[in-house]
Amino acid sequence: MAKEALVIGASGMLIEVSRWLARQGYQVTVLGRDPVKLRSVRDGSTHPESFHMLPQDYHQTESLREAMAELVEKRGPMDVVVAWIHSTAPHALYVIVEELSCPEKHWQLLHVCGSGAWRNPPIEPTSEVCIYRRVVLGFTCTGEHSRWLTNDEIAVGVIDALQATERQIIVGQVEPWEKRPTY
Ligand SMILES: NC(=O)c1ccc[n+]([C@@H]2O[C@H](COP(=O)([O-])OP(=O)(O)OC[C@H]3O[C@@H](n4cnc5c(N)ncnc54)[C@H](OP(=O)(O)O)[C@@H]3O)[C@@H](O)[C@H]2O)c1
Repeated sequence: MAKEALVIGASGMLIEVSRWLARQGYQVTVLGRDPVKLRSVRDGSTHPESFHMLPQDYHQTESLREAMAELVEKRGPMDVVVAWIHSTAPHALYVIVEELSCPEKHWQLLHVCGSGAWRNPPIEPTSEVCIYRRVVLGFTCTGEHSRWLTNDEIAVGVIDALQATERQIIVGQVEPWEKRPTY
C-alpha cells in the first residue's frame, strides 16, 4: 500500500518538502487555499502523478474537519503530516489530529513552528496514535548581522527532521535570542 502524506501550507516554504515526499514514494495531499498555487507545486514535481490537491482554508474549522474526514475516506489513513499553520488558526491542528486519528493507526505529525515557539514547551494535541514532533524555525547570525531563514534553508531543515527521530529540531539557531532579526 502506498504511503500517504499530507502537507499543510504546502504551496509556500514547504513546496520542496512536498516534492521530496513524492520522490520518497509518498502519495502527497497538498493543502492551501489557492488551487492555482497548489497545482504549481504538483507541476514542478518530477512525480506529478503522486499529488492530490486539497484547497481548504484552515480557519474554517468545520469544513476543515469535514475535509480531513473525507481525506481519510478517500485515501486511507495518513502516515505523515507536515503542518505549517499560522497562529491565527489555533484550533486547526487539534481538528486535524482528531480527524486523522480516527483509524487506529500510528502516524507522525511534524509541526513546523516559528522561532518564538522555542521559548514555550510544545503543546501537543492528545492522541494515542499521533506521534508529535516539532521543528522550530530559527534564524541565522554572522557577527552582528542576523536574518531569517530562506525557503531553501527551511526545506532542507524540515526534510532532515523528517528523517530524524528527535522530538524537537531547531533549524538555524534560536540563541542568543536577543540577536534574532527585528524585521
Ligand atoms: N524563522 C524563519 O526564518 C521563518 C519563519 C516563518 C516564515 N519565514 C519566511 O516567511 C515567508 C512567509 O511566510 P508564510 O507564513 O507566508 O509562509 P509560506 O510558507 O510562504 O506560505 C504559507 C502557506 O500556507 C498556506 N496558507 C496560508 N494561510 C492559509 C489558510 N488560512 N488556510 C490554508 N492554507 C493557508 C499558503 O497557501 P494559500 O495562501 O494559497 O492558502 C501557503 O501554502 C516564508 O516563505 C519563509 O521564507 C521564515
